[in-house]
Amino acid sequence: MSVCILGIESSCDDTSVAVIKDGYLLSNHVAGQSIHQRYGGVVPELASRAHQENIVPLVDIALKDAGISMSDISAIAFTRGPGLLGALLVGTSFAKGLSIALNVPIIDVNHLQAHILVHFIQYPDKSTKIPEFPLLCLLVSGGHTQIVLVRDYLSMEVLGQTIDDAAGEAFDKCAKVMGLGYPGGPVIDALSKNGNPQAFYFSKPRVDGFNYSFSGLKTSFLYFLQDAVRQDQNFIEKNKNDLCASLQRTIIEILIENFRKAILQTNVNHIAIAGGVAANSALRVAVAELGKELSVEFFLPEKSLTTDNAAMIAISGYFKYLRGEFSDHSLPPLPRMPF
Ligand code: KG4
Ligand code: ZN
Repeated sequence: MSVCILGIESSCDDTSVAVIKDGYLLSNHVAGQSIHQRYGGVVPELASRAHQENIVPLVDIALKDAGISMSDISAIAFTRGPGLLGALLVGTSFAKGLSIALNVPIIDVNHLQAHILVHFIQYPDKSTKIPEFPLLCLLVSGGHTQIVLVRDYLSMEVLGQTIDDAAGEAFDKCAKVMGLGYPGGPVIDALSKNGNPQAFYFSKPRVDGFNYSFSGLKTSFLYFLQDAVRQDQNFIEKNKNDLCASLQRTIIEILIENFRKAILQTNVNHIAIAGGVAANSALRVAVAELGKELSVEFFLPEKSLTTDNAAMIAISGYFKYLRGEFSDHSLPPLPRMPF
C-alpha cells in the first residue's frame, strides 16, 4: 500500500504544506510573509498570525495539486523545532487536530535535519541522483551554520557549528547596514553578479575545530562602511555591487575553508549543502569546484527547496513512518530543539 505523508512547516516566516507519496514529491506550496520586510526582520507575533491565516488554504491547494484527498493521507509530519514558539504552535496544533479528525498518526520532525533530507526527495517527472551514506553536509541557513556527518536518514552528528552568528545572518545583517532590505541574502547574491569580489577585504575569523564565527565579519563590515561613509556620503550607493561581491566572497571563503578540512579529515566521498544560503549562486559554484578538486560527489539541492519548505518535512516524516516512529499528541513544540 502507498504511503502518503502530508508535511507542515511553520517554524519561522514561511508557511508551507507538501505531499510526499512513497518518497516522491507530489506538491509543495509555500506562502511567504512580506509583512516582515518593513521591520527589517521577522516579527514573531505577526508570523504566528500569518501562519494561522495561511495554513488551511495551503492544505487545500497542496492536496488538490497532489491529486489526492484527505482520506489518502497515511500520516501528518510537522516541524517540532527549532523555531519561533508561536509559529511552531500553529503547525503543531494544526497537525494534531487534523490527525484526530482523520484518525492518522502524527510524526514530529526536526527542522534542521529536514533541511538536509531534501537531498533524498524523488520526483515523478525526472530521475535524480541520491547521495550515499556517509554524507557530509554543510547546513547554512538564517539561524544555523553547521557541518553535519549524516550516517543515515535519521542518524546525524554535528561536527562543527557557528559559535555566534549564522552565515545567513551575516548576509542579512550586512544587507541591512547597506539598506538593502530583508532577507538580504538573495539581494546580495543578485547585486554581486555585477561586482568585483576582490574590491574590498574584510577580516576572517580564527576558530577552533570545524566551528565557524561570523560576528567579527559583520562588525568589521560595519566599521569599514562607517569610515567610508564619513568620507563620502554616497560610498555605499556608488560601490554597492563591489561591496556585495566582496562580502559574499569572504563569507564563502570562510564556509569552504572549514568544509574542506572536514571532508579531508572524515574521508567521506559524498558531500552536500542545504539550508537557505545553499541557494547562493556563488556558494553553489564553490562547492561544485571543491567537489571536483577533492574528487568527491557533490549534491546541490533544488533552489526551490533550499529555503524553508514542507517538502523537507514530509520526506523526513516518510523515513520516520517507514520505521514506525510516530509521535504522541501530548508532544509540545520545541523552539530550541537540539540537533
Ligand atoms: O533556511 P532558511 O529559509 O531559514 C532558516 O531556517 O533560517 O534560510 C533563510 C536564510 C536567510 O538568511 C536568507 O538571507 C538566506 O537564507 N538566503 C540566501 C540566499 N537565499 C536565501 N543567502 C545568500 N544567497 C541567497 N541566494
Ligand atoms: Zn530553515
